[in-house]
Amino acid sequence: MNQKRDTKMPATIEWLEGGTVRLIDQTQLPQTLVFEDCTTHEHIADAIRPLKIRGAPAIGCAAAFGMALCAYHSRANTADALLAELEKARECLAATRPTAVNLFWALERVMAVAQKAAESGDVAHVVQAVVAEAKEITEDDYARCVAMGDHGAELIPEGTNVLTHCNAGALATAGYGTALGVIRSAHLQGKKIHVWVDETRPLLQGARLTAWEMAQEGIPATLICDNTAASLMAQGKIGCAVVGADRIAANGDVANKIGTYGVAALCDMHGIPFYVAAPISTVDYSLSSGAEIPIEQRSPEEVTHLGLQTDESVAAAGVEIYNAAFDVTPARLVAAIITDRGVARPPYEEGLAALRE
Ligand code: MRU
Repeated sequence: MNQKRDTKMPATIEWLEGGTVRLIDQTQLPQTLVFEDCTTHEHIADAIRPLKIRGAPAIGCAAAFGMALCAYHSRANTADALLAELEKARECLAATRPTAVNLFWALERVMAVAQKAAESGDVAHVVQAVVAEAKEITEDDYARCVAMGDHGAELIPEGTNVLTHCNAGALATAGYGTALGVIRSAHLQGKKIHVWVDETRPLLQGARLTAWEMAQEGIPATLICDNTAASLMAQGKIGCAVVGADRIAANGDVANKIGTYGVAALCDMHGIPFYVAAPISTVDYSLSSGAEIPIEQRSPEEVTHLGLQTDESVAAAGVEIYNAAFDVTPARLVAAIITDRGVARPPYEEGLAALRE
């Protein structure tokens, strides 16, 4: 697998000896870089819900570490009792956010390992296996992002202006990023690229997180309002778009941050390639189309209040609010899906099936 790359980013999430999980509290960025230490799975769940840790692969890593904390601090004295506690932790973590499939994928992976280890009847063996699996999921995610980045960089020509939406970067993964991994790899290869960063209302993951990551890395970037991209495309100032994904159906339909579909539709209208970068763990082969992907609805305050830390509403009092956190981009608008196992092209039923692990 690929070695660690020299990114300027601190670890998004990590396991500390003694049974603590340290994560960056992303709601505090870019003003302050604050780390939060968690010792229970409930604490991890409480960090996932308000987006202290967010982005599909990072949510998966956090969920796996939540299970590891449950096992590590358990006082169960039989393997079966520990399995029962892990099942409760799984339910708690699974209820945090519905759209990113990596959450459920990671929980299933850890539960499967726990069940297998429990056949020995040895509690310590189950604990060791669960902690090891959570660490492996996280290390593996980093390596997969690097592989994805290198595959995707082939699609980014020298001198390209790349548009991205939301944050699919190191902060949204175990490190390196998916869409921003592609951009990082192109940059590390010496290509002179420039990134247009959609601010990404309502929670401003672009303005707060992607812009910050690009600054840490020294990658030239310009922040734009979400409604600016069409005009830039019309002026020929966007060469391609690269975004991440929260869940991809077997037919290539892509759920990602609200507004992604609009970007893809605009790219289609202007003849600009629209790429999606995601690890294979983001593909939900059980869903035949994006219509089956559950879309998270979030609180009205995220729309009425600009920024995470303000008490002041900008909306007329009493107005009804619709705040879907994600939308689904139809596969026909996606030029390629960049994965850690290679690049899939349409028709995606076949392209994605060929990459399945
Ligand atoms: O609500 P968020 O911030 O978790 O949404 C994140 C996204 O939509 C990302 O684009 C997606 O999870 C891919 S992250 C590599």
